[in-house]
Amino acid sequence: MKTSIEKLFDLTGKVAIVTGGTMGIGKGIALRLAEAGASVLITDIVDTSEAAATLRDIAALGRKAQYVQADLSDSKNLEPIIDQTIEAFGDLHILVNNAGIFSYCPVTDLTEELWDKTQAINLKAVAFLSKLAVKKMIEKNHGGKIINISSVDSIKPSGNLSHYDSSKGGLRMLTRAFAKEVGRYGINVNDIAPGGVTTPGVAKMAGDNLSPEQKEAMKTQMEQFIQMLPLQRMGEPEEIGNAALFLASDASNYMTGSTMVIDGGLLVM
Ligand SMILES: NC(=O)c1ccc[n+]([C@@H]2O[C@H](COP(=O)([O-])OP(=O)(O)OC[C@H]3O[C@@H](n4cnc5c(N)ncnc54)[C@H](O)[C@@H]3O)[C@@H](O)[C@H]2O)c1
Repeated sequence: MKTSIEKLFDLTGKVAIVTGGTMGIGKGIALRLAEAGASVLITDIVDTSEAAATLRDIAALGRKAQYVQADLSDSKNLEPIIDQTIEAFGDLHILVNNAGIFSYCPVTDLTEELWDKTQAINLKAVAFLSKLAVKKMIEKNHGGKIINISSVDSIKPSGNLSHYDSSKGGLRMLTRAFAKEVGRYGINVNDIAPGGVTTPGVAKMAGDNLSPEQKEAMKTQMEQFIQMLPLQRMGEPEEIGNAALFLASDASNYMTGSTMVIDGGLLVM
């Protein structure tokens, strides 16, 4: 008997963690997974009052949500995230490694501090949180889904982001390495490579530390970029949420070690 489409995307009874889930792409993913039935633990560096709106939105969908404030760049903060998920919901089926930082920096200005911070959040935290999640999924003996948010920059550098592009290139390989080792436990590991998506992080990058002239130049550059994109618009967090729902659901059960590119055609520009 074929599984119905409704059942294929049903996450009722599943427990998900979404890192960096209070805003932007992470929020889009958290809401989609909750809408499909999952209980969601969001973890982020921002304080609880900033996370409250996302928790309210999930509650409005009739789903359960918890919040853990944590700086993922500090490894000692990772185990409590898994522990609190188990304490709150009794299980763990889906981990979305979404939290990430990005800031423009030409290679000639690159500092060790920016390099280390970027790798710590975008790559090292993903490796060690995934390790803990995988151990829990193996212990529970029910498989699971790990979804890493990489970037089209892991495939084609956009310029002035060498520290970021390296972290995301590493993340794509980490996805494949984990997939190879944990497939035998029924754990699927894939990544999503978004192109340009409208988020607070992108708005901040376009505005931070820029003079009015630089901001104007950035605005023009952005408008030209959008016109050249085959789909001629930025993506929305919800559209990355849709891809994450596919990877979190039974619809993707035979997919592992792969990258889903969701970029409005950026890579064929
Ligand atoms: N927006 C885009 O165009 C785009 C494109 C490609 C890839 N991505 C990737 O998607 C992910 C989300 O990006 P976004 O645009 O939504 O960014 P965003 O800045 O809007 O949101 C990122 C979230 O991560 C959290 N975060 C940052 N540092 C953290 C830390 N040390 N510990 C815990 N949480 C931390 C932030 O507080 C925030 O909630 C990132 O990994 C980013 O690299 C974004």
